[in-house]
Amino acid sequence: MSLVEKFASLEKNFRPLMLKLPKRSAAKLFSSGRKVFLERFYKDIPKEPAQIPESAKTQLWGLDFNCPIFNAAGVFKSGDGYEVAAAQGAGAFLIGTITHNKRSGNKKNCVLHPFLPYPNSLAASNWMGLPNDGIESTLEKIWTIKKQKQCPIGVSISASSDLSEKETIDNLIVNFKLLEKTQVDFIELNESCPNVEHKEKKFGDLLDESFLLRLEIISNSVLKKRKRQLPVILKFSTDTQPSQVEAIVNVCIDLGFDGINFGNTSTDYSFCEKFIQEEEKPLFKYFTSNFGGGVSGIPIKEKSLNLCKAANSVLKEKTLSKEFHIIRTGGIFTNEDITESKKCGVALNQWFTGYFHNFGFYGHKLYEKILTLE
Ligand SMILES: Cc1cc2nc3c(=O)[nH]c(=O)nc-3n(C[C@H](O)[C@H](O)[C@H](O)COP(=O)(O)O)c2cc1C
Repeated sequence: MSLVEKFASLEKNFRPLMLKLPKRSAAKLFSSGRKVFLERFYKDIPKEPAQIPESAKTQLWGLDFNCPIFNAAGVFKSGDGYEVAAAQGAGAFLIGTITHNKRSGNKKNCVLHPFLPYPNSLAASNWMGLPNDGIESTLEKIWTIKKQKQCPIGVSISASSDLSEKETIDNLIVNFKLLEKTQVDFIELNESCPNVEHKEKKFGDLLDESFLLRLEIISNSVLKKRKRQLPVILKFSTDTQPSQVEAIVNVCIDLGFDGINFGNTSTDYSFCEKFIQEEEKPLFKYFTSNFGGGVSGIPIKEKSLNLCKAANSVLKEKTLSKEFHIIRTGGIFTNEDITESKKCGVALNQWFTGYFHNFGFYGHKLYEKILTLE
């Protein structure tokens, strides 16, 4: 066991105790502690590669994935840690979310990049505000990665809310084109971050013209002009209404996107609170009323599954001219969750809260363990 694995294993036992600290101190401790841990985690390359069952391997868009699960955006934000993910046997390595320009992210009440886990509820809150190093620095990192078989590289990109609509679209197009020239295998367009200000409410109203126009421009300027196979997936919030899924899937397919991901964290606090254990409710209320942010983990498990089910029902009725896949993110912790996803037509899963939860139990063998456990 490496020191990082030992630390994670111990920390999981002490987490509930640390959360008894005054609430602001707990938020400060976990928000800064996360960064210190991650710096070491990215360098903690497992000595032996994990043994992933052959049956878990999957091929989509002509890409080979070691298994149908990999990290959600936010885990390997800056592009460090590829060798860790590949040796763990992850299905892929997703970098980002990145924006065109570097962003410093959110800070409030002296807490930088607020994050708080609710370990007994298998949930977490974050109000990071998309801190990232920007496209230039990420490109440099991508060039240094020694890509391995069956661990393709994805990059999650997003518009930055501090720019005009025109600048936003121009930057997105530039970023797509720059990434196309690298060894990146797929792109995820993050249309769902709850932690940055949006100029308009996306999909609050399906006739949100500026959003549809943006997708149309991306379709014409990027998707239709791709010089190589480079699937582009759209990631939406798990707060998306199931009644909107049909229209969303149809737009995505008509415009030439290659997949859809449900999804991102939830800001439906009254719904999510029902899944928070009594003893963790004061922390949950403190975080959501002071920072807001998105809720991840168990509270969004059913939401992500239901949205994927709805998307699958739409797909079943259509004759597709090319591959289009459903990706599920939100509340994935076990092999059973992956099986459930598969039954609902989900091709790939991503995890964040469940990833770190399982790391505390199984260390770098987490993919091997969950894929072989019943
Ligand atoms: C600390 C933290 C940072 C995140 N950063 C991003 C991000 O940069 N881009 C993104 O699309 N989602 C981000 N997410 C959301 C996750 O990718 C994922 O959609 C969400 O956590 C739900 O999955 P889970 O239940 O497995 O955690 C972040 C989540 C957390 C907890």
